[in-house]
Amino acid sequence: MEEIKAESVDNINKNKDFYNKKYKEVNVGGLIRTLNNLDVFLADATTTDISWVGMYVNNFKETVKGKKVLELGCGNCANAAVLAALGAEVIANDISDYSGDIIEALNTKFEFEHNIVFKKGDFVTHDISNDSLDMVIGKAFLHHLTLDHEKAVLKKINDVLKQDGEARFFEPAVNSKFLDELRWTVPMNNRPSKLFNPKGFKAWEALDPHPHRDNSSKHFRMLGEQFFNTTEIIPMGMLERFYRILPFSNKILRKYRRVALRLEKYTPKFIQFLGARSQTIIFKSPKSNAHV
Ligand SMILES: C[S@@+](CC[C@H](N)C(=O)[O-])C[C@H]1O[C@@H](n2cnc3c(N)ncnc32)[C@H](O)[C@@H]1O
Repeated sequence: MEEIKAESVDNINKNKDFYNKKYKEVNVGGLIRTLNNLDVFLADATTTDISWVGMYVNNFKETVKGKKVLELGCGNCANAAVLAALGAEVIANDISDYSGDIIEALNTKFEFEHNIVFKKGDFVTHDISNDSLDMVIGKAFLHHLTLDHEKAVLKKINDVLKQDGEARFFEPAVNSKFLDELRWTVPMNNRPSKLFNPKGFKAWEALDPHPHRDNSSKHFRMLGEQFFNTTEIIPMGMLERFYRILPFSNKILRKYRRVALRLEKYTPKFIQFLGARSQTIIFKSPKSNAHV
């Protein structure tokens, strides 16, 4: 990988260690139950869970059948499995050794129209023919890359996508310094508060697989414009994000999330961008002279 810096290689290895631990425990039986109840699962997830809402925005579900789709950072392989069950020809990629084991188990236990193909290791190192893919997607993937690595990934996506192909990513959005600092102040799962437990926060940060980098909508727009003729960014979560601090049952919170995601679309666009916690990034029409 001559194109990327040594710190980027360290970042890949840190991610690999982190996710190898995480995916050891994935319950493939649970994924198979999801696939056997696909319509019910998608009706709920794509209206309530922000990463599924974002990935499936603009009738994505209806467009994937028969398409050759590469999913980068497939992780626990839930999305790759859903896409394959919807009839897409899926190539799943991750640096985690366990994602490959999950795909193998899924192919054995579920009858897909096309078995999922797994490519292990960093995408930049893989040999994939130019103009061969209809879609390259990533759900919570790009923000795990350092910026020079991300550029190398986008350059390669530009090469492997067909001229009418699409790249689609669901990523966090950081468009307000104030909201970002507020986010770090609130303890979440095993992450201590940056303000009230700085020592604990530092220890957590040392193991965290996210590089310090720009995740603003402006950054992703400028990145897309280098390699694609069309760039669309859809901000999300301005109201939905507060569910994490509301003291209600999971059932009420799911309803809150669903309604909030619907309502926030009616607020002015600049407020949606400013308050967003997530964003869907859609790039189309690869530039033919984008070899920067
Ligand atoms: C936040 S997880 C998202 C997983 C999954 N897409 C989801 O939505 O649950 C990020 C994933 O990206 C993977 N990843 C990080 N760096 C990578 C790289 N350079 N190449 C491939 N996968 C990578 C990690 O192993 C992890 O599975």
